[in-house]
Amino acid sequence: MNPVVIYSTKGGNTEKVALEIAQELNCKAIKISGESEFSTISLKDFDLVFIGTWVRGGEPSPDMLRFLKQLNLEDGNRQFALFITWAGGGKSDVLTFNRVKQLLKAKNQRLLDDYYKCFGKSLGLARRGHPNAQDLVDARKWARLVAK
Ligand SMILES: Cc1cc2nc3c(=O)[nH]c(=O)nc-3n(C[C@H](O)[C@H](O)[C@H](O)COP(=O)(O)O)c2cc1C
Repeated sequence: MNPVVIYSTKGGNTEKVALEIAQELNCKAIKISGESEFSTISLKDFDLVFIGTWVRGGEPSPDMLRFLKQLNLEDGNRQFALFITWAGGGKSDVLTFNRVKQLLKAKNQRLLDDYYKCFGKSLGLARRGHPNAQDLVDARKWARLVAK
């Protein structure tokens, strides 16, 4: 498999996980942000696409939402896999997964049911220390299994 990691981060939590996964799989990690030109990112050469986002109000980040909406893929030969960092708010993890799944389905793309999530430090003391060393070990393990 030829993997790639595409992620969006605001405070750096999701980036930590993204870089860890990219290192584990020896692949590229591409950060998307408001200013980046999405159209320059081509998924043509990749058959396994890790999508990483932080959770914002039970949704993927605004950047990731925009990226997923503008995706223009001609074939369905790709497997997508999602990882998120969140603060543990209610069902916002599941809501985020469902939203990503729905957006990819609209483009005839498949999202693996098994997604990875870990806490990310948030405002104040909430989830301080996350993602921690164990979170990163678990992320690597998950990515390895997905890529097998
Ligand atoms: C505006 C805003 C909205 C958020 N909404 C949620 C949410 O709905 N559920 C949740 O569990 N965490 C929520 N969080 C917490 C972040 O998802 C969490 O801190 C994440 O790790 C941030 O990732 P980053 O450092 O990569 O930006 C929110 C944070 C912000 C700033």
